[in-house]
Amino acid sequence: MTPRSAATSRVKPDSATSNGGPERQRLVYLATAISALGGMLFGYDIGVISGAILFIKTEFALSSSAEEVVVSAVLLGSLVGAIAGGMIADRLGRRKLSIVTAAVFGVGAIGAALAPGTGWLIAARLLAGTAIGVASFVAPLYISEIAPVAIRGKLVSVNQVALTSGIVISYLVDYAFAGAQAWRWMFALAVIPAAAFGIGLMFIPDSPRWLVGRGRVDEARAVLKRIRSPDQAERELKEIQSGAAQQKGRWSELLSPTLRPAMIVGVGLAIAQQITGINTVIYYAPTIFKFAGLSSASGAILASVGVGVINVAFTLVAMQLIDKVGRRPLLLVSLAGMALGLIVLGLAFALPQLSGSLGWIAVGSLMVYVGAFAVGLGPVFWLMLSEIYPLRIRGRAMSVGTVANWAANLVVALSFLTLTQVLGKPATFWLYGAVTLGSWVFAYLLVPETKGKTLEQIEAHWRDGKPARDL
Ligand code: BGC
Repeated sequence: MTPRSAATSRVKPDSATSNGGPERQRLVYLATAISALGGMLFGYDIGVISGAILFIKTEFALSSSAEEVVVSAVLLGSLVGAIAGGMIADRLGRRKLSIVTAAVFGVGAIGAALAPGTGWLIAARLLAGTAIGVASFVAPLYISEIAPVAIRGKLVSVNQVALTSGIVISYLVDYAFAGAQAWRWMFALAVIPAAAFGIGLMFIPDSPRWLVGRGRVDEARAVLKRIRSPDQAERELKEIQSGAAQQKGRWSELLSPTLRPAMIVGVGLAIAQQITGINTVIYYAPTIFKFAGLSSASGAILASVGVGVINVAFTLVAMQLIDKVGRRPLLLVSLAGMALGLIVLGLAFALPQLSGSLGWIAVGSLMVYVGAFAVGLGPVFWLMLSEIYPLRIRGRAMSVGTVANWAANLVVALSFLTLTQVLGKPATFWLYGAVTLGSWVFAYLLVPETKGKTLEQIEAHWRDGKPARDL
C-alpha cells in the first residue's frame, strides 16, 4: 500500500458521513447551523449600514468624514475582535467565546438602535464590529473541528452561505424600513439572530478537539460519542491525541520554520480575498452602477440585492462541490473568473462607444465577478484558514489570518474611491484584475489541497517539514 492510499484508508471510516447514525448526524448539523448564525450576524451587521446611513446622515447632520467614521467603525472593531479573539478561543474555548460574542452582538444592536448621538452610535458600531471580528473566524473554526472529514468543506461553507444571506437580509430589511426612515429598527432587528445564537449555543457541545487540547480527554470522548458512532469516536479521539495536541502553543511558534508555509498560505489568502476587490462591490455596487449610467434609486437597490443573491447562489454551488472537486480547483477557477469579470468591467468603462450598452455590460461583468468569488475564494479562504493550523495554536493562528483579512478590507474600502479618481475607473478595475491574476499564481504555487484529510493529517504534514503543495 502506498503512503497515500494508507492515509486514505485511514480516513475512510470517518469519511462516511452517515454511519454516525442519523441522530448523531443531526446534532452535527444543528451545531453547524447554530454556529453559522455567527456568520449571519457578521453579514447582517456589515450590510445593514448601507441603508441605515442614508437616514442617520440627515438625522445627526453628519459631515462626510463623520459619515466615513460611522461606516468604517465596524471594520476597526473587527480588527480589535480578531486580535483579541484568537487567544481567548484557545483558552476559553470556541463555544464559550461564541456565547460572549452573541451577547456583544446583542448589546451592539440595541446600542446602535438607541443611540442618542454620533459618539454613542460609533461606540455601538465598534462593539458590534468586535463581535464580527470574533465570529468571522470562530464559527468556521468550531464547525471545522466537529465536522466529519468527508463533509468538512460543505459544513464550514454553511457559514459563508449564512454570511452572504445575512448581507441580503440586511438589504431587504433596509428596503422595508426605508419608507418610514426607521433606521433604528434596521439595527435593532439583529437582536433576534443574536438571541437565537446565544441560546442555541447553550445546547451544542464543545469542540472535542479543543477539549483534548486542554487535557479534558473524557469530556472530549463524551462529545465524540454524541456525534460519531462509538468506534469512530474512539478512533478519532486517538488520532486527535496523537497530534501532540496537549503541548502548549506559543505565539512565537507562528514564525517557526515548520509553520511558515501554513502562515504564508493563511495570510496570503486572507489578503488575496480582500485586495481582489470583493468589498468594493459589496459596499459600492450602487455607486459602480451609477458610474455605468444606471442611476435610479430603485435600480441601485435592485442592483445591490441582485449582487447579494448571486453571491448566495454561487456559495451554495461551492458548498456542493467543495468536498468533491476539492478546494484548489474551485479557488483557481474562481480567481480566473474574477479576473475576467474585472478586465471586462474595466473595458466597459474604457470604451465610450459602448456607452449605450455600458450599463448592461457593467452589470454582467460584475455578476460574473461576484459569482466567481462566491464559488471559490469566498468560502475557500475561511475553510482553509480553519484547516491548516495545528490544534494547539489554531485559534491564535486563525486570528492572525483574520486580522490580515480585516486590515486588507479596510485598506481597500478606504482607497477605492480615491483610486477611481487618481487612476480613472478602467485602470482601477484593471489594477484589481492584475492583483487577481497575481493571486491566481500565488494559489497555484502555494495553496495545498486539504480535501479528504483529517485536521491531524494536515498538522502532521507541517511537522514533517513538507512543502504545502505536497499535502
Ligand atoms: C469576506 C467578506 C465579504 C463576504 C462577501 C467573506 O468571505 O471575508 O469580506 O464581505 O465574503 O460575501
